[in-house]
Amino acid sequence: MSSLLRCNRLGSKGRFFPSKQFSTLTKISQQVAQEKESKLTEVSQREAKAKAEKEALLKGKKFVNFNGSQQDFLNKVIRVDQAGELGANYIYQGQMFALVAKYPHLRPVLKHMWEQEVYHHNTFNALQVRHRVRPSLLTPIWKVGAMGIGFVTGAISKEAAMACTVAVETVIGGHYNEQLRTLMNDYGNIDLKDMAAGGAIIENQGGLVSDELERLKATIKEFRDQELEHLDTAIEHDAESAVPYKVITEVIKAICRVSIWTAEKL
Ligand SMILES: [Fe+2]
Ligand SMILES: [Fe+2]
Repeated sequence: MSSLLRCNRLGSKGRFFPSKQFSTLTKISQQVAQEKESKLTEVSQREAKAKAEKEALLKGKKFVNFNGSQQDFLNKVIRVDQAGELGANYIYQGQMFALVAKYPHLRPVLKHMWEQEVYHHNTFNALQVRHRVRPSLLTPIWKVGAMGIGFVTGAISKEAAMACTVAVETVIGGHYNEQLRTLMNDYGNIDLKDMAAGGAIIENQGGLVSDELERLKATIKEFRDQELEHLDTAIEHDAESAVPYKVITEVIKAICRVSIWTAEKL
């Protein structure tokens, strides 16, 4: 028997499987792999079919007539999320200033999260330009405030900086979830304009959602998941050992909630 085959037939604890048992195990793992592959193919076929059906339904039509509150909500989403991601950038900048010289091992951790915030911010900047949504009037305040929060928590301790991330991401994760809920529930009834019928307005009874809205939802979902990863990273880096953890996190959560409320309006 070749050494390779001998090796394959060794169990995780170095036990030697009898050849019958070994071939049964091989068959089972092949079956599992085949089932997994066919399930994946099934899912992608289903997705492709749904996409083709939607394209056929929308052929020659375009989405029109958001009502006033739907349009207001979309503008608010873009304005507040752009301001929030700008704030997140400045928080990490402040933390980098305060922490990296003293704790060089935290540089890659903070850098990774900061880079994701830059990506989030750039995405909302582009959406803001495309949809002509004005930025928050308080942008200079968000910059100074966020940099201050990042620097002060970093100066208190590395654990306090991580507790700050826990607080911010808890609020932001919830905020993105609320936006997703509204976008999923309230945007399936936008009318369509039938270009082939001279631009006649038709009611969207199928609950179809425009590609633009689908992309916005996908963006928010992606960012929400990354914010929750930041939260996990902060917990892994001893956020809960910050003193006083409860005070730091509750104060920062309150600041975030007030900032969100204000940035939506101003
Ligand atoms: Fe972000
Ligand atoms: Fe984040």
